[in-house]
Amino acid sequence: MVPAAGRGERLGPGAPKALRDLGGAPLLVHAVRALARSRAVGLVVVAAPPQGVAEVLSLLDSHGLDGKDIRVVAGGATRQESVRLGLAAIPESTEIVLVHDAARPLVPVEVVDAVVAAVRAGAEAVVPAVPLADTVKRVRPVAAGEPEPVLDTPDRATLRAVQTPQGFRRETLAEVHAKALTEEAAGGSPVVTDDAGLVEYYGGRVVVVPGHEEAFKVTRPLDLVLAEAVLARRRASDGF
Ligand code: CTP
Ligand code: MG
Repeated sequence: MVPAAGRGERLGPGAPKALRDLGGAPLLVHAVRALARSRAVGLVVVAAPPQGVAEVLSLLDSHGLDGKDIRVVAGGATRQESVRLGLAAIPESTEIVLVHDAARPLVPVEVVDAVVAAVRAGAEAVVPAVPLADTVKRVRPVAAGEPEPVLDTPDRATLRAVQTPQGFRRETLAEVHAKALTEEAAGGSPVVTDDAGLVEYYGGRVVVVPGHEEAFKVTRPLDLVLAEAVLARRRASDGF
């Protein structure tokens, strides 16, 4: 499933991020195509911006994605809610679910297949990830612009930057989302930024497989420049 209901505030003013253009097609269309390229993918559920379900349906239609079952549901106010709503549209007979950000339009199919393979091999939760280029420091956050005290520096060799698609046994993912919803209703809620984080929070085991530098997330304006460049390079090399 593809959570695509975010506004893309960090990308600046304009349409919802998933609907922004990248080389002639919306980010979402690239992301859905990237998933659909995998033979392991049969159904794609998109969680669209709540006001944009009809628009997303006709967009996907006009960009013709042959041979795959594509469904669109209204997303929610948070990514977690969007994933939960998308999951509800997936048949219970489905064994493996991938969750892939609309904001990662250029993920290579090899990454999708590697994630599926690891779930098929027995993992309940799988994330693709890459080593970090930058050294990372933990700080005590203070008001913007003020110097922040450094707490420590984790050993970079043990750190990974996590991408999508993240892969799960459907049952595992549905279970942790249901638990999180119950906790939310009780006034608490686990603070996580990805689906694997929920699995970890509830004591499940998550494993990492190699990601790819082209699976980066389009978050800020510079990322869109990079995505255009990667796409142009692919189109040029396809031309040969
Ligand atoms: N997402 C979603 N529903 C939300 C928020 C986010 O489906 N309520 C999706 C986004 O559409 C995106 C993915 O989750 O594909 C990753 O989120 P992010 O990169 O943070 O996108 P946005 O939330 O749109 O961007 P920003 O945080 O800058 O507003
Ligand atoms: Mg966001």
